[in-house]
Amino acid sequence: MKIDDYPRVHLAHLPTPIEDAPRLAKRYGLSRLLIKRDDQTGLTGGGNKARKLEYLMGDALAKGADVILTDGGPQSNHARMTAGAARKLGLDVRLVLAGPDFDEFQGNLLLDVLLGAEILFLRDKDVPEMEDGMSRIAEELRAQGRTPYIVPIGGSTPVGALGYVRAMEELRGQIGDEPVQIVLAVGSCGTFAGTVLGAKIHLPQAQIHGISVSSRNERIYRRTTEIANETARMIDAGITVDQTDFHPYDRYFGTAYGIPTEAGNAAILDAARLEGLLLDPVYTGKAMSGLADLARTGVLDPSRPVVFIHTGGVPGLFAFHGEFQDQAVCRKQ
Ligand SMILES: Cc1ncc(COP(=O)(O)O)c(C=O)c1O
Repeated sequence: MKIDDYPRVHLAHLPTPIEDAPRLAKRYGLSRLLIKRDDQTGLTGGGNKARKLEYLMGDALAKGADVILTDGGPQSNHARMTAGAARKLGLDVRLVLAGPDFDEFQGNLLLDVLLGAEILFLRDKDVPEMEDGMSRIAEELRAQGRTPYIVPIGGSTPVGALGYVRAMEELRGQIGDEPVQIVLAVGSCGTFAGTVLGAKIHLPQAQIHGISVSSRNERIYRRTTEIANETARMIDAGITVDQTDFHPYDRYFGTAYGIPTEAGNAAILDAARLEGLLLDPVYTGKAMSGLADLARTGVLDPSRPVVFIHTGGVPGLFAFHGEFQDQAVCRKQ
């Protein structure tokens, strides 16, 4: 099959803009820094998941689904956008979330509530327990005559990755086949896998750098090649992705997923104050701090353009308001 043969529903505002960030480029010693604004995909607050969901929801509708299930952390952008996609298509939505307990429905969780997602929260549990939870709920729904569709964590399946193969085709239309250096945040690897495969097809001169927000490099190499090669098979791409096609970095996420870092928070302030650009502490702030370090240490070639894929996450920022209180310059009278 060709990529055009896969069912897709229109959910994202595409093409997303690409913008110069000249002051941030100067700060990081780069000749040119471009921001691919995938935070502006629309769909209940924007982000990379809208591209994956176009294909995942296409698949769900083709299979007759009437209720969508997915999982993630309490501040999951993926869960929020999946809930938004389900509602936009008139479907029900159930979320199984897990992680440290939370005090308030803020950030993405607030949006999940507005979207009417029914949430099962598994305190201090992890991915396997969430997967069990989704299977149980799906069974109950089937017994009631419903047709559930499970979107695995992060939407990081070969079907979801099709969205980023398309994104690289879109980027090529915007910048031509320049030897750019692409930098993006890597979580469950679907966005990275689609980007690596899409670049191999559409931007063969590009170098792809992934800043991990959670996993060690070994896992990223494995998951990214697995997903990319399955996606390549699905669309008869006739190419194979291997570990030389991309560069993962697992030294910028700090102690753990979701725990802000000093360098990530500094990058958030740089982007906001130099460019009016909002990043978040879980994904894009850490990814930008990685970009800054790769530029400083000469891993990125300063004479070649760098494209930062802004994968979104801004709704999550509001759950971290405590991180930035000391930055306030506010005179009350
Ligand atoms: C804002 C943001 N950036 C990056 C990612 C990473 O994408 P992936 O899980 O496909 O690696 C996510 C995933 O949840 C995200 O929400």
